[in-house]
Amino acid sequence: MKTEELISTATALMAGDKGLLAMDESTGTCNKRFAEAGIPQTVEYRRAYRELIVTTPNLGNCLSGAILYDETIYQSTKKGMLFIDILKKAGIIPGIKVDEGAVNMAGFPGEKVTEGLDGLRQRLEKYYDLGARFAKWRAVIIINEDTPTKANIEANMHLLARYAGLCQENGIVPIVEPEVLMDGDHSIKRCQKVTEKVLKALFKQLEKQRVDLRGIILKPNMVLPGLKNTKQASINKVAKATVNTLLKCVPPIVPGIAFLSGGQSPELATAHLNAMHVNYKGKLPWALTFSFARAIQQPAMDLWKGDDKNVKAAQKVLYKRASLNNAARRGEYTPDMEQEENPKLTVMSQKVIG
Ligand code: G3H
Repeated sequence: MKTEELISTATALMAGDKGLLAMDESTGTCNKRFAEAGIPQTVEYRRAYRELIVTTPNLGNCLSGAILYDETIYQSTKKGMLFIDILKKAGIIPGIKVDEGAVNMAGFPGEKVTEGLDGLRQRLEKYYDLGARFAKWRAVIIINEDTPTKANIEANMHLLARYAGLCQENGIVPIVEPEVLMDGDHSIKRCQKVTEKVLKALFKQLEKQRVDLRGIILKPNMVLPGLKNTKQASINKVAKATVNTLLKCVPPIVPGIAFLSGGQSPELATAHLNAMHVNYKGKLPWALTFSFARAIQQPAMDLWKGDDKNVKAAQKVLYKRASLNNAARRGEYTPDMEQEENPKLTVMSQKVIG
């Protein structure tokens, strides 16, 4: 196993106050988001949108890594420069989503299991040659009256661990993403219990499959009440429930945790990350950062609307969202920054923030 390489990639992904951008929507998900924003759902619009993202000036100040999708990893700008090369030039490590989506789990109505292990070794070899140095696999856990079942958690966590082992064999850092969905009206307490169960099962499976925990990144959900729950939790309550759950389940040897946003508004996702850093400064064994998709991209996509004349404005908004999350990682974000056109976003220190 390429241990040194894995550790050095994981450390670089967690460096300073930077974080990750998930721009790895599958064609179906990207088209769904485009349809909601009134953007035509064609390969050329998807390419143009990803060009807008990767050519955002100074994005490398905010991001350590960007997760691509199979379609995107081969695409180039209109002028013919590969996206992956633009990212590398900006100092952003390219990553790749390698799962093939969540499908209904046979015998378990209402639950999903993620596919994608077949041929994964060969795909990873190819992605490594293309320049990807980390990967992502997302498992989906659904909270309902009688879900998640033990069998569903076990199946998903086993697959995540098998994927992680294959990545490490190929010098690729696996992002392991067990997402407990926000859909539903469950309480924050229920989310906490389920998240704890899932994370404990995950680390058991990672150990069984001999995954080197020094060379992984965990991408969990924050602990939140369901979106339909009328009793939403305060920012500090979410921060504390999330960090306490992680402290119970995630071994200190894991180098970093990078949250998904999961359907939170961009402002709330940033505020939650900030509150974790404010409340636990210097007390966490791992680095804690963001790996958001919607919470970074959505305002930019809505502004772009598929129109060339909006590209610059959309890039400005994308950059601002990413740098507000850098501020959150330093514990320096305030809601006032949302209103300022050019908030004073101090340039990042390179120190790893615990
Ligand atoms: O797999 C999900 C993405 O990587 C994160 O997306 O931040 O919109 O939840 P999200």
